[in-house]
Amino acid sequence: MIRITVDDERFEGRDGQTIAGVLIGAGRIAWRTAQTGERGVFCGIGVCHDCLVTVNGLSGVRACQRAASDGDVIEREVRA
Ligand code: FES
Repeated sequence: MIRITVDDERFEGRDGQTIAGVLIGAGRIAWRTAQTGERGVFCGIGVCHDCLVTVNGLSGVRACQRAASDGDVIEREVRA
């Protein structure tokens, strides 16, 4: 089991899950604010960049491609 923090909220997942997988598994469908509204996973294969988050201070990480690691601190991105 892994534990991550997203926007100061704690989530639990399984080893090997992506960040998006952990969030969707917990019922959360959006974690980025764009000009068009709240965004989460669109393509799910690393192409559209709708799922971008900041992970441990590194911005522009695709949540659908990055495996969640125990202790990750993830923050919402806001882009116009
Ligand atoms: S959902 Fe499209 S890149 Fe992640």
